[in-house]
Amino acid sequence: MAPLFTAALASPNIALIKYWGNRNHELRVPSNDSLSFTLAHLQTRTSVSFKQDYERDLLILDGTEAPEAARLRASNVLDRIRELSGRSEYARIESENNFPSGAGIAASSSAFAALALAGTAAAGLAFDSRQLSRLARLGSGSAARSIFGGFAWLHAGRDDATSFAEQIYPRDHWLLTDCIAIVQPGEKKVGSTDGHQLAETSPLQKARIEDTPRRLELARAAIGNRDFDALAAVSEQDSNMMHAVMLTSVPPLLYWTPGTLEVMHQVQAWRASGDPVFYTVDAGPNVHCIAPLNFQQELAARLRDLPSVQQVLQAPIGAGATLQLGQSSTSG
Ligand code: DP6
Repeated sequence: MAPLFTAALASPNIALIKYWGNRNHELRVPSNDSLSFTLAHLQTRTSVSFKQDYERDLLILDGTEAPEAARLRASNVLDRIRELSGRSEYARIESENNFPSGAGIAASSSAFAALALAGTAAAGLAFDSRQLSRLARLGSGSAARSIFGGFAWLHAGRDDATSFAEQIYPRDHWLLTDCIAIVQPGEKKVGSTDGHQLAETSPLQKARIEDTPRRLELARAAIGNRDFDALAAVSEQDSNMMHAVMLTSVPPLLYWTPGTLEVMHQVQAWRASGDPVFYTVDAGPNVHCIAPLNFQQELAARLRDLPSVQQVLQAPIGAGATLQLGQSSTSG
């Protein structure tokens, strides 16, 4: 019996060497390579079903019909799937996150990795992970990395064909965790898609991009050698460099709040006194605190004690996107 729905699971990832700015905004070809690890426990589940009688794609997010902009973004990925599979039907997409949508965790990386996998499977396409990564990238640049578990490297490339991620170390290579200190839940004012357009207006962006191969090599070697101090130094520098670009773009982007700074200072103080932890901050105010897994519980407890921290999410290194085939009529 043919499956009535095709669903996929995917998790967000946290970049230690980040990209900021696009070489091609429409295709989301990033300006520089990036390196991340995928997060366990946090998950998006997305199902896709194509049907002859739909008049357009429908996107249901956490049980509610999504705003038009989100629907069009998903349709853009499905258009590519239709083009490649020779299908013309529209689809119903249902997507749910198991983490609070207001918590300020970028759900686009897991959302588009799950959509790429569920969408291709529903259309009968058997894509390899590189093809899936390229497809996920069309929805969100960072989603290209969430196809993979463990540590992933996104090659910025020059065009659609050369812009994809690959796994560089499996998840059990090094047991690290991300304790995400939520200092301000809710939607950020300027999303990544708009932020990427501003990157070029900063006089620091060129220098950041030119220095990226050095940081990537330091990070790759640190991960290979499981050298925590080396990874801490280059990751914090990379995060600071991206925020230096944001702060100096026109108009400037200031994602940090007093709470962000409180956690950053505290993390540096803990590390100075010998505790293995470093910070990295994405396009938002919340602080990702990276530590060995055996320090997770204590770190999370200490973070929760800080006045500006409202919640701590704990996410060790996780697996890549996976498919779920089913025949239930209730699962959409
Ligand atoms: C700061 O992948 O969120 O997280 O393509 O507009 O969805 P869109 O951008 P997105 O940009 C990621 C920016 C970053 C750094 C990174 O993950 O490398």
